[in-house]
Amino acid sequence: MNLPSVAKGVSLKSYNTFGLEATADLFTTISSTEELKSILHNADYKHIEKLYLGGGSNVLFTKDFAGMVILNRIKGITVANEDENYVWVNAGAGESWHELVLFCVANNYAGMENLSLIPGTVGAAPMQNIGAYGVEIKDIFESLEALNLATHETEIFDAAACKFGYRESVFKHEAKGKYVITNVTFRLNKTPNFHVEYGAIKDTLEEMGVTDLSIKAISDAVIKIRQSKLPNPAEIGNAGSFFKNPEIPKTQFTALKGLYAEMPSYPINESTVKVPAGWLIEQAGWKGKRFGEIGVHAKQALVLVNYGNGKGDQIKALASDIQASVNEKFGINLTPEVNFI
Ligand code: FAD
Ligand code: EPU
Repeated sequence: MNLPSVAKGVSLKSYNTFGLEATADLFTTISSTEELKSILHNADYKHIEKLYLGGGSNVLFTKDFAGMVILNRIKGITVANEDENYVWVNAGAGESWHELVLFCVANNYAGMENLSLIPGTVGAAPMQNIGAYGVEIKDIFESLEALNLATHETEIFDAAACKFGYRESVFKHEAKGKYVITNVTFRLNKTPNFHVEYGAIKDTLEEMGVTDLSIKAISDAVIKIRQSKLPNPAEIGNAGSFFKNPEIPKTQFTALKGLYAEMPSYPINESTVKVPAGWLIEQAGWKGKRFGEIGVHAKQALVLVNYGNGKGDQIKALASDIQASVNEKFGINLTPEVNFI
């Protein structure tokens, strides 16, 4: 088996979108499942703790990593199957998510266009069932292959086995740390079913002068909206939304609405309401606040940022302060979306 080369003492600064400095004792890049297996079987490496990284766009390094970082670069995008209604597209876990979206948009395969410009890799997308602008990957997901780290066998997960929820999957719970996702298959539509219910999409399409709705026009609109409010990690370090939007009991929401009439919300079901964490954080006075090298983004209070030389433990402490102040003001607990390492 081909053993990929392993480097010692590697800086992870360019491998996480927060741009945080941390060192990995050992570092390697895999481009196939076989290469991954050769690392797992190797006598020198098999007992070492491992961290699997894609684009590093949903991690917060609070310290050095005393183990091996394995960068997933398993590539390949192929049309696996099609019938008169659908196209099944398979992609390696190490493909860029946005490149896959552009491939589908260019070929008029519908379903991923609202998920344009989300950073990171295909393999990490099912981890938290990535979502944006009214669509989640569960809506277009067919199945994935993952290597079981105990048996070294490949297992197939369909949507039910993934237990997708809002920014949730089985891989964040009972299967956490037990599998490496190696490739994912999506089912795209030959006939588009446009999702423009997010007001910002309609307004942006109008601004762009779009009269004939298309997959490409929606993708372009989503890209435009995202570029206008989310900081580009190449310029300001960040990991997108730091917290999940909290889901609270309707009774609690009704009581809060009595105090804060303008509080926005989205109904989840009869008894639960989702409240935008960005609004709560802004109301608690954090939006645009800068503390030396770190802070809260001025255009989106849900995004914590590293201006260049911030440290992961400073961001962690800021996140705790924000959680405490939102809890004190509204009695709501914010749960981080970002994975702390
Ligand atoms: P990484 O950060 O590398 O890894 C994330 C977690 O998954 C880690 O725990 C890692 O160990 C694990 N992991 C990675 N690859 C694998 C694998 N192949 N097998 C098993 N485990 C693995 N998310 C959204 O849902 N919606 C958005 O709109 C959105 N917008 C964003 C905007 C910005 C500017 C940024 C920086 C982030 C945004 N995110 C968003 C978050 C992020 O893009 C997603 O969570 C993305 O799927 C992370 O992919 P990644 O490859 O960078 O994962
Ligand atoms: N808001 C404020 N102040 C702010 C930010 C937001 O008041 O500073 C309020 C506004 O009322 C706004 C509402 O929050 O209407 C929602 O804001 P936005 O549309 O920006 O979306 P979000 O809820 O903050 C979520 C996802 C994003 C995703 C967008 C678009 C979560 C945790 N975040 O953000 O995903 O791109 O919707 O669908 O669900 C991510 O997960 O990393 C991420 C960026």
